[in-house]
Amino acid sequence: MAAMIQKPRGTLDVLPERAKVWQHIEKTLRSVAEKYGFGEIRFPTFENVDLFQRGVGDTTDVVQKEMYLLEQKGTGEARYALRPEGTAGVVRSIIENGKCSDAMPLRYYYLANMFRYEKPQAGRFREFTQFGVELFGSDSALADASVISMGNEILEKLGIRDRLLHINSIGCPNCRPKYQEALVSYFQGRESELCETCRERLKKNPLRILDCKSPICSSIAAGAPKTVDSLCDDCRQHLSTLLSALDDSGISYELDPGIVRGLDYYTRTVFEFLCPITGAAQSTVCGGGRYDGLVRELGGPSLSGIGFAIGINRLIDAMEKSGVNPPEETRPLLYIASMGQEAAMRAFQIASRFRAEDKWAESDLVGRSLKAQMKYADKIRASYTLILGEEELRSGIAQLKNMETGEQVAVELATFSL
Ligand code: HAM
Repeated sequence: MAAMIQKPRGTLDVLPERAKVWQHIEKTLRSVAEKYGFGEIRFPTFENVDLFQRGVGDTTDVVQKEMYLLEQKGTGEARYALRPEGTAGVVRSIIENGKCSDAMPLRYYYLANMFRYEKPQAGRFREFTQFGVELFGSDSALADASVISMGNEILEKLGIRDRLLHINSIGCPNCRPKYQEALVSYFQGRESELCETCRERLKKNPLRILDCKSPICSSIAAGAPKTVDSLCDDCRQHLSTLLSALDDSGISYELDPGIVRGLDYYTRTVFEFLCPITGAAQSTVCGGGRYDGLVRELGGPSLSGIGFAIGINRLIDAMEKSGVNPPEETRPLLYIASMGQEAAMRAFQIASRFRAEDKWAESDLVGRSLKAQMKYADKIRASYTLILGEEELRSGIAQLKNMETGEQVAVELATFSL
C-alpha cells in the first residue's frame, strides 16, 4: 500500500456529521447578521502583503511571525499573503469598490477561512474560520453597543450561557502619545529582560509588547501602565456612553484594562467574549473593536469602523462543552431495495422521480443482497422502504413500509408519492 498522506498541522477536516453542526451555526449567524442590516461580503483568500503590513501593522505578531507568504513566481519575492484576518481585506474592498460615499452606515459580514502560522494547540489552528462583521461610518458609541449586542445575541442563540464580555478603551491618536510615553518609560526600566522582538518594539511600537506571547515579556507587561488611565475626555465620554447603552440593554460586562488586542488598527473600544468553560488557554471566542483610522491608512477617506470576529472552531468547542445538543440529523424519506438488475433499474428511476420532487430517496448502488439492503435502510434511518422483485415489476404494485410503525400499504409504482 502507498504511504498515507496526512493533513497539514493545525488544519481540520470536517466530515458530513460535523458539517451539520457548522451549517446550523452558519444559518444562525447569517440570520442574526441580516436582522441587524448586515450584507455578506466575499473577498480574496490572499492579498498584497502590504495590505496586512500597513493595515494590521508590521510590528504585530500576526504580521511579523504568523503570515503565510506567497512568492511571486520567478522573483523569489513575497508579494502576497494568505489572509490572517478579514478586516483589512474588507476595508480594501470597500475602498476599491467605491463604497465609501454610499449612505452610512455600511454593514458587512463574512464567513471566511483565515491562516496564521501559529503553534497549534487546543483552540489554536493554522487554518481556522471566522465569522466577522464590520460597520463603517458611525462615530457614535451606540454603533459599538449595537455590534457588541449582536455578538452577545449570537452567543446566546447558540446556547453559550457561560460567557464573559470584557471591555476596554485603548484611546485615540490624541491620547495615545501620552500613554506611549508612560509605557516606554516603564519598559525601559526592564529593557534587558525583554525578548529581542520586544526590544525592537520598544523603539517602534511599545503597545505591542503588551501582547507578546513570551512568558517573561507577558509577566513584565502585567505590571505596565493601563490605557484607561491616559484617556482624553472624548475617549472617556465614548466609553461611558457605550457602558450606559450596555447597561440599558441588560448586557453584563467587565471592564478589563488588560485587553489591548493584538492588531494595530484599534482605537477606543476593544472587547472580547470569553468562554471559560472550554478550559483552554485560548478561551476567547470573539474579539473586536473600533478602528477609526484604518480606512484612511489604507488609502480611503476618513471613515470610522467597528467590528468583531468569532472563531467558529472555538465556538463549536464552547458549544460542546456547554452541552448544546447538535441539530437533529436529517434522514432519507425512502429507501428502495431491489432484487436483480431490472428491479435495481426501476428502483433507480423511482428514486430519481422522488429527488425531482426535492425528496431524499435512495436505491442500492453497491449490489448488496436483499437482507443487507434492509439492514442498510435501518442504519440510514430511512422513514419508508419499498422492496422490488420480479413480482412487483410484473404487477406494478409493491408494499410500502413505514419503518417507525411497521405498517405496510400497497402502492402503485408508477404513481405513488410521499
Ligand atoms: P482576532 O482576535 O485576531 O481578531 O481573531 C478573532 C477571533 O478569531 C478570536 O477571538 C478567535 O476566536 C479566532 N482565532 C484567532 N486566531 C485563531 C487561531 N489560530 N485558531 C482558531 N481561532 C482563532 C481579528 O481577527 C479581527 N479582524 C476581528 C475584528 C473584526 N476586529 C474588528 N473587526
